[in-house]
Amino acid sequence: MSFKTLLVDRTDTVVTVIINRREKLNALSDLVLRELIELSTKLAARREVRGMLLTGAGDRAFVAGADINAMSRMTVDEGVAFSRLGQEAMDRIEALPFPVIACVHGYALGGGCELAMAADYIYATDAAVFGQPESGLGLVPCFGGLVRLIRLVGPGRAKELIYTGRNVDAREAHAIGLVNAVFSTRAEMMAAATASLALAAAKSPVAIAACKDVLRGLDGKSTAAQLAVENAAFGRAFASEDKREGVAAFVEKRRPAFTGR
Ligand code: COA
Repeated sequence: MSFKTLLVDRTDTVVTVIINRREKLNALSDLVLRELIELSTKLAARREVRGMLLTGAGDRAFVAGADINAMSRMTVDEGVAFSRLGQEAMDRIEALPFPVIACVHGYALGGGCELAMAADYIYATDAAVFGQPESGLGLVPCFGGLVRLIRLVGPGRAKELIYTGRNVDAREAHAIGLVNAVFSTRAEMMAAATASLALAAAKSPVAIAACKDVLRGLDGKSTAAQLAVENAAFGRAFASEDKREGVAAFVEKRRPAFTGR
C-alpha cells in the first residue's frame, strides 16, 4: 500500500500508520483524510491484521489539526463537505474490527485530538499536548470531536476544554481519562503500545470485533445522528464573520478580533 501523506508499515499482524506532512505539523488536508479512508477500507478487509498503531511524523506533532490554510480558501459548502469527509475518516478508523492505539507525541490539537479519539485508546509521551482550539478560530470541532470528547472525559470537562480552547498537557490528559498511559520517551510509548496490541492479538478476533461493535453504540444514540448535528453546527460557524476573521488571523500570524457575527 502506498500513499502520499501516510507511511504504512506492517510487521507481522500489526500495522503502523504515520501521518506524514511534517512541514505542516501533519495537519489533516483533504488528501490525508481521503487516504485515511482508503487505508481503513483496505485494512478492514484484511483478516490477518490484528491491530494498528497511529502516530505522527517528526518530533513536534501527532497532528496539529485540520488544515486551516485549506479551510481559509473554502466556500461554506466546501467547508461542510470537508467536515463530513473528516467525520467519515474518523468513523472508518473507529469502526475497524481490530484494536487501534493512537500514540501521541507533541501536538494533538483540533482534528489531531479528534483523530486520536477515533482510536480505541490513546497512549502519550510527556511532550504530548491536547486541545480543541476551534473556538479561537471561529470554528466548531467538526471531525467528531464534540461527540467523542464528551464520551471520553464527561460533559463538564468536555465543555470546559471546548469553550476555552485551552491546551491540556499529558499529565492532565491522563488524569481526566483522555489518555490511558503516559511515557517518558517515544520509544517507550511505541513499545508499550506494541505490547498491548500483542496481548489483544492473542485473543479471539471475532470476540474483539463483536465487543467493538457493542462499545460503539453503548450510549444508545446513533453516532451517525450525533455527527449530523455536529456537521450542521460546523456549517453555521463556517458561514460566520468570526470564522473568516479567526482563520485569516491564523494564516496572517496575528491575533483574531471577534465581533460575534
Ligand atoms: N493547518 C495548517 N497548517 C498548520 C496547522 C494547521 N492546523 N498547524 C500548523 N500548521 C503549519 C503552520 O502554518 C506552519 O506552516 P508555515 O511554516 O508554512 O508557516 C507550520 O505548520 C509550523 O507551524 P508553526 O505555527 O510555525 O509552529 P509553532 O511551533 O509556532 O506553533 C502550533 C505550533 C501547533 C501551536 C501552531 O501551529 C498552531 O496553533 N496550529 C494550529 C492549531 C489549531 O488551531 N488546530 C485546530 C485547527 S481546526
